Amino acid sequence: MNPIFHLVYISEAAEDISYTDIHDILEVSRRNNSQEAITGLLIFRDGHFLQLLEGDEKSVRKVLGKILLDDRNYSLRVLIEAQGDQRLFPNWTMAFYDGDVSPNSTEDLINLFDACLDGGASRRSLIMPMLRQFRASAPELK
Ligand SMILES: Cc1cc2nc3c(=O)[nH]c(=O)nc-3n(C[C@H](O)[C@H](O)[C@H](O)COP(=O)(O)O)c2cc1C
Repeated sequence: MNPIFHLVYISEAAEDISYTDIHDILEVSRRNNSQEAITGLLIFRDGHFLQLLEGDEKSVRKVLGKILLDDRNYSLRVLIEAQGDQRLFPNWTMAFYDGDVSPNSTEDLINLFDACLDGGASRRSLIMPMLRQFRASAPELK
């Protein structure tokens, strides 16, 4: 089996981002990602996007190039680029977790964003295991 490339980034959402924008992003992402065999998770919380993209490295980098040019987000920082042998979100062309409205927006999410925003290498090693935890709620993700 081909290795799976995982890329995690955090970015700031445009000031005027709306739920209509997020809905549009998800609709286009799911259409494109299914064609490119990309899966992953997008989390929105407190004006930030945190996204895991997984698939063929070339396809993932191509999408990242588009997101970097997208003015619905800015100050994008890549946190993780790693090859692995399996997908964390195999059944999701792009799962979405709304960290602002979800009732189970708990300590897991706060710890995840702390690890991402503080940026230290030791904390980054915690990010993938933390993202994996969100798979437990994947059936509820829309
Ligand atoms: C936070 C964020 C995440 C995005 N995630 C994806 C994605 O996973 N896949 C994707 O194709 N486009 C994604 N986009 C949208 C791209 O920036 C771009 O608008 C889209 O890929 C253009 O699609 P098109 O080439 O079919 O017009 C994302 C945009 C933002 C702001």
